[in-house]
Amino acid sequence: MRFEIVTLFPELFEALEHGLLGKARDAGRIDVHTITPRRFTADKHRTVDDAPYGGGSGMVLMPGPVAEALDFLDEQRGGRITRRVLLTPQGERFTQAHARRYAELDSLTLVCGRYEGFDERIRGLVDEEVSLGDFVLLGGEVAALAILEATARLLPGVLGNEQSAADESHAAGLLEYPQYTRPEEFRGEKVPEVLRSGNHAAIARWRRKESLRRTLERRPDLLEAADLTDEDRQLLDEIKGT
Ligand code: ADE
Repeated sequence: MRFEIVTLFPELFEALEHGLLGKARDAGRIDVHTITPRRFTADKHRTVDDAPYGGGSGMVLMPGPVAEALDFLDEQRGGRITRRVLLTPQGERFTQAHARRYAELDSLTLVCGRYEGFDERIRGLVDEEVSLGDFVLLGGEVAALAILEATARLLPGVLGNEQSAADESHAAGLLEYPQYTRPEEFRGEKVPEVLRSGNHAAIARWRRKESLRRTLERRPDLLEAADLTDEDRQLLDEIKGT
């Protein structure tokens, strides 16, 4: 899958050279292209921002260099289709469902806002606006990295174990069950007996129950939206002691 990032700080995306995403790039499973709007400026200072019309403090990212960066990417892609996503705290909240949708695409273009703001007409250049959450970053770069990572890990061959992407928190709309490894006892805390029993059916039941318990305790909102089986409801009754 191709990822394109329009950013004033391409160096931040060097982080993608490491770990599993670095391997995915080396193996050709993901292809990352960063482009800076500064390349599409004509003045000696490579200006990409200006004062806001109407006055006020702070500078505003100009639409021209961003539009030209997007045109350049279109050309480089040879007319193949992409989806353009603008990172902004005003966007729709990013969730695992977005990651799943993006992972179906051939190409995703992430446009990072920066500075105190960007010209409103930049909104007209993208297909959707996405926010990482109800907090304000200095710009869209960290959000773009998060979205790229959440999407790329769903692609075939990016995770070592095909099962793990499906198993984890949020994949099934529930939080993940607790995991343990050695030692069997750590500072007085023991690994639950059932996990050492070798009884696969009992282990699966325990995991489902703990997953439901954790979701009930920490994210009851997820539980309401989850697709629960009759057995899940029975486990929930057990947890609630009803
Ligand atoms: N840019 C600044 N804050 C952001 C956020 N919370 N999500 C996405 N992009 C942002």
